[in-house]
Amino acid sequence: RKADDAELVDRPPIRKRSSYFTLQYPSLSQAPSKPPPFQQPTPLVTFSYTPDHVLEFNDSALRYFVDPPLGADLGYGYDKWIRRPDERGRLDALLMAWSRFKKSLSEGHPSSQSKPPDIGVMSWRGIMTKMLIAPYEERDAWELNVMRVGETFYLEEHLTDAKLQEKNTMEPRHRLQSYYGYAFESYCTTSAPGGRGDTVSKVRGWGGDVNTNVQWCSIVKTKLGDRRIVIGGEVDCVRGRHSGSTDDFVELKTSLAIRGLSDEKKFEKKLLKFYMQSFLLGVPEIVVGFRKPSGQLTTTQSFQTVQIPRHVRGKPGAWDPLICLHWGDRFLSFLFNTVQTKTGKDVWRVTFTPKVGIAATVLDGAGMEEVVGGEDRIGFLPRWYWDEVAP
Ligand code: A3P
Ligand code: MG
Ligand code: MG
Repeated sequence: RKADDAELVDRPPIRKRSSYFTLQYPSLSQAPSKPPPFQQPTPLVTFSYTPDHVLEFNDSALRYFVDPPLGADLGYGYDKWIRRPDERGRLDALLMAWSRFKKSLSEGHPSSQSKPPDIGVMSWRGIMTKMLIAPYEERDAWELNVMRVGETFYLEEHLTDAKLQEKNTMEPRHRLQSYYGYAFESYCTTSAPGGRGDTVSKVRGWGGDVNTNVQWCSIVKTKLGDRRIVIGGEVDCVRGRHSGSTDDFVELKTSLAIRGLSDEKKFEKKLLKFYMQSFLLGVPEIVVGFRKPSGQLTTTQSFQTVQIPRHVRGKPGAWDPLICLHWGDRFLSFLFNTVQTKTGKDVWRVTFTPKVGIAATVLDGAGMEEVVGGEDRIGFLPRWYWDEVAP
């Protein structure tokens, strides 16, 4: 009977309500006694998007950090912004990179290292961040589409047409604030290593060219508990020269300058997202640019990602990354136990509701049609990828 008991304890509490399976919200008051280990991410492949948003397997979009000019106007060039519209968060680029990595393994080492590792979960960093910080999310719900092909789970964000449209018709004030973030990235980076000359020219009069089509992305492999995970995400820039590891990765962020206790509390809350987003890709440094409400850059501060939890520990409203990792592990176990499919072609809809938890259900015909969207896909996976991995 002992063995049975142990199994019951390890199993997440799944309750079936009609065709919905649910996972309850974690307790925030108690740190888990045995948090799951998280493995240091190692990069597998990088790729770039050109100014026309064409994907290339090179580092043409890699940028190098330079100190930004204090006092800079982050609103400069707003009217010239070439803005990439928000789109459905398909996994296609990630799958292309992963497929390429697998081929390079078999070509590079025909004898030994040719077998790619078994991956438990594949997704974008943004999804993994939302999933892990969910215990502290008080406002925003989210929805995922989930497929299970073999023993690999694929997670994409589910965005309805209405939600996409809403994202793309941002309120003018939000749109400008969003631009401030991109302008900060531009002020902080150059296209050649060690290029300080560019900073000087930016002080004298930066061109104000922001094109959010351009992105440099890194695909990394890591492990949460005993599940191998492949995560893809954008890396804002590197410090010094790029070594090929994640050691020189830098995340850039903007935030309103802190003027009092209430601002400080808000900032510490925001640090959870900054932390988790960077931690998941192995980004060791976050440079925050503080700005005035008018968009003027006042100061910058560099944070070591691993030090951030210590920075908030013990303060009112503090968060604990171990609660997030423990919840993440439970969430993945829940998917593992819940998402079943005979053919691998089913799509499950996973819904997160703040302060309530997770509900999962398999999609019916109409739901599937919406996910495929008339494209050449099996579920949400592109057919070419399905043909490579189909069971
Ligand atoms: P900040 O990071 O300074 O907020 P990222 O931080 O992930 O590198 O994203 C760069 C910028 O994109 C952000 O700058 C912000 O301006 C914009 N951005 C990211 N996510 C956004 C969202 N959900 N809505 C609006 N703008 C967003
Ligand atoms: Mg970024
Ligand atoms: Mg950033």
